[in-house]
Amino acid sequence: MPEPALLRILIIEDNPDDGALLEHELRRAGVGAVCMPVPDERSFLAAISPAPDLILAGCRTPGFGALAALRLLRQRGHDVPVIVVISTLGDEDAVECLSEGASDYLRKDSLGRLGLAVRNAVEQARLRRQERGEHRLLQAVVDGAAAAIYVKDIEGRFLLVNRRFEALLGMHSGEIVGRHAAELYPQEVLEQLRPHELAALASRSAVEHEVRLGEGAGMRTYLSVCFPLADLDGAFHAVCGIATDISDAKRLEAQLRQAQKMEAVGQLAGSVAHDFNNLLTVILGYSQLLAGRLVDQPGLFHILDEVRKAGERAAALTRQLLAFSRNQVLLPQLVDLNAVVAEVETMLRRLIGENVELVITLRAQSGRAMVDPGQVEQVILNLALNARDAMSNGGALILETDDVELDAVYLQRHPYARAGPHVVIAVSDTGQGMDAETRSHIFEPFFTTKEKGKGTGLGLSTVYGIVRQSGGHIEVYSEPGQGSTFRVYFPRVVAVAARPAIPALVVAAPRAGSETILLLEDEESVRALVSHLLTSAGYTVLESGSSTDTVAVAERHPGPIHLVLSDVIMPGMSGPEVAARIVATRPETRVLFTSGYTANLVDRKSLRVAHFLEKPFTAAQVLTTVREVLDAPLPGGDARG
Ligand SMILES: Nc1ncnc2c1ncn2[C@@H]1O[C@H](COP(=O)(O)OP(=O)(O)OP(=O)(O)O)[C@@H](O)[C@H]1O
Ligand SMILES: [Mg+2]
Repeated sequence: MPEPALLRILIIEDNPDDGALLEHELRRAGVGAVCMPVPDERSFLAAISPAPDLILAGCRTPGFGALAALRLLRQRGHDVPVIVVISTLGDEDAVECLSEGASDYLRKDSLGRLGLAVRNAVEQARLRRQERGEHRLLQAVVDGAAAAIYVKDIEGRFLLVNRRFEALLGMHSGEIVGRHAAELYPQEVLEQLRPHELAALASRSAVEHEVRLGEGAGMRTYLSVCFPLADLDGAFHAVCGIATDISDAKRLEAQLRQAQKMEAVGQLAGSVAHDFNNLLTVILGYSQLLAGRLVDQPGLFHILDEVRKAGERAAALTRQLLAFSRNQVLLPQLVDLNAVVAEVETMLRRLIGENVELVITLRAQSGRAMVDPGQVEQVILNLALNARDAMSNGGALILETDDVELDAVYLQRHPYARAGPHVVIAVSDTGQGMDAETRSHIFEPFFTTKEKGKGTGLGLSTVYGIVRQSGGHIEVYSEPGQGSTFRVYFPRVVAVAARPAIPALVVAAPRAGSETILLLEDEESVRALVSHLLTSAGYTVLESGSSTDTVAVAERHPGPIHLVLSDVIMPGMSGPEVAARIVATRPETRVLFTSGYTANLVDRKSLRVAHFLEKPFTAAQVLTTVREVLDAPLPGGDARG
């Protein structure tokens, strides 16, 4: 066992004999100590820091004595135990010294208890120090917490608060502790909190609830937990409240829910549109075939023509749904968005009518983005049409472009956005605006507030899909009666040489041919239709419904294969992968992809150089495109898909 450390004891005695007597008694009682006489105030003050373990002081010393020492200790905030040695008839002195903070007293003529008294006083002081340490630790933890914490007694008076709570009230703890909550809070805040505190006390368990504090834009939401505190006897004498600011988490949660909803609706719309597209392809394809045979029967031809028209309307609707679900074919090019806006200006002027003023401000220095310009026009048009509809009594439509740099701070509030340079197109109107409820639904397909027949509710969902598929995002600011601003952000392309746009294919090719075409399409009815079309036009068709099969068919076929006509998305190997395999061994083979449903999985580069045929297609489109691809010069060794 380690030697107990020697106690450092100060002795205040003007008579050296008395001092020596005390030291002698200590030794006799087995108290290991280093004693130091401090006969006057000066030597006392010099000896109390660092603090000694104990002070033994005579009471009625003529110069410096116990009472003076006790007062000095208190003034300086020192907690050192003082044992007073009184004369035989000094009971009153003892009472005075105890009331001034002495730990104990002994009579000069019976010092036999000295050892015990010293050990007791030192132990008590040690416990007090330990308790102070624990309290300080607890206070530090409570102050460091990211929540506002308070303790109130049963009547509702504050016993303890932490820093966050001080900040929340804008007061110092000294102004809060001891006062009743009713003196500090407005009535409505009290009404939000007090019932839960009482419920916690009554149920003797924790009660959780949300509180909204503040006003207007400064309104914050707190998750508050109240629980009762019991004293050592188990009686509940206080209640503790811990309020955490959850406003940011709540906002992100709402954004996430909204994003998930849009994702789910998008998937649903996309898969319905995809299947529907295949059916329409079959309906439209066969109607055309049949139409060719009914030209000399006008009555039947007319009926069939109605079928075709309805089919085309359905196809247009499907295209909008595909746009929303971000699964339409985009042909991104490097374009200047200022130019795109300038391009639609004339059309907009005509569209919005005379009582709406059109204001265009192109602030973007470099409005360059990798987007499909036709689709961006569609975005602007849809937004402008909505703006016009919101301004039945006239107003202004304002189109602006600007450069913005989205940073981490922006991303915190808009987690779906990407950091970096963007071009923003803002479309504002001075129209009727929207309330929060309307705003939360506007991007959903088929959500409309317009009367029956006036709106399909697909305008903004199309916009949403196009923007997201282009790697951008859209935001809306609107209040009822205050107009609206839609901001569309596209990633800005920095310092890349502009490439010429891909020239549109010239449509004048003959439609028939005798080449061999390998057709890959997993949807059987579509495959049968295309095969029928191509065979009728004189081509030899090799058919396949699966990717692996197609590679085998190509390997087995002894003659040349002039064209692979393939769906993009296939179960297993994708269309482009199959095509690449075939082209690897047959470099003269050309590739044409068909799709209504391009996933982002497909490499954008191969998409841009690919020959494309969008579903649903007409018979004429299939035959013309096939012919064009077959007649186009074969790029030397490059990807030809
Ligand atoms: N600029 C705007 N001002 C006020 N409300 C708007 C504005 N833009 C959109 N809205 C609201 O959002 C709804 C959905 O718009 P969306 O473009 O998707 O469909 P729609 O305009 O009703 O029909 P569609 O565009 O298919 O003809 C509108 O019905 C309208 O309530
Ligand atoms: Mg609309």
